[in-house]
Amino acid sequence: MTAPAPAAVAASPERFPHRDLLGIEGLTAEQIGYLLDKSDSYVAQNRQVDKRSALLRGRTLVNLFFESSTRTRTSFELAGKRLGADVINMSAEGSSIKKGETLIDTAMTLNAMHPDVLVVRHQESGAVSLLAQKVSCAVINAGDGSHEHPTQALLDAVTIRRRKGRLRGLVVAICGDILHSRVARSNIHLLNIMGARVRVIAPPTLLPTAASQLGVEVFHDMRKGLAGCDIVMMLRLQSERMQGSFVPSISEYFHFYGLDTEKLAYAKPDAMVMHPGPMNRGVEIDTEIADDISRSAIAEQVEMGVAVRMAVLDALSARLPNFAPAAH
Ligand code: CP
Repeated sequence: MTAPAPAAVAASPERFPHRDLLGIEGLTAEQIGYLLDKSDSYVAQNRQVDKRSALLRGRTLVNLFFESSTRTRTSFELAGKRLGADVINMSAEGSSIKKGETLIDTAMTLNAMHPDVLVVRHQESGAVSLLAQKVSCAVINAGDGSHEHPTQALLDAVTIRRRKGRLRGLVVAICGDILHSRVARSNIHLLNIMGARVRVIAPPTLLPTAASQLGVEVFHDMRKGLAGCDIVMMLRLQSERMQGSFVPSISEYFHFYGLDTEKLAYAKPDAMVMHPGPMNRGVEIDTEIADDISRSAIAEQVEMGVAVRMAVLDALSARLPNFAPAAH
């Protein structure tokens, strides 16, 4: 299902009363709905030849990435530029972090140059919130350790809502490395807030100890967990966060937890397959499923990523200093 192109939703400090976006936890259903509605209008804008508006003209957005990224960094850059901001990309490689400068000193240094928005990815859970306390600009969490990746959950929600028409009541199975996944954590928060039913499917070694307290149903068997679900969300093994071995072997992991045609047949016939990327084909997902555009929404998720990041920048712009509503 494709949603009709809605009229632009005006930025409102009342409807999104936050300086920063540090996580999904703590947002209300109304605030999430506001961001999703805004995202829909940016999807329509991004499908036009002229994708630009002037909402952030004169503003500066800094992408500060301490971990690798393709999708998130590029889409924040595109989002900022399409809204008229100046965008600077910084990575730990090639910065003074390599000379021993701390996260906070780096943040204070950038803050002294008067950016309006800092988009930060960091390998430590909580690092982005800590940084946000030290700067005077808006901060967006682009992924902190295994804690949260709020814009990923928002883009997943937009993708689901556009295909299925709703979030409430859908059964969503999140499968794989739940333990190390900030994507899983943000999605669990968002889907619970929006009234979906969340299942997690993983071997015991890849689940947090108190998984059932997250408001999810826990499964260790893919076929039982996938039975009757509307959405199948696959996660990669986050080997960069693992110390030691969490699975016996890749081939055994694929055998039990890799999504293939046979296991997917347990889900609803119209179940949609999602993956935040990057994918490891033949580990958590079979190539045949990943490339089947009748089942897989992976490319659509990437498209929604740009719209969602524009929507978040737009929503936060209402609280930037000297904000003046612009016609766009
Ligand atoms: N999904 C996601 O965060 O991808 P990147 O690591 O490429 O940004």
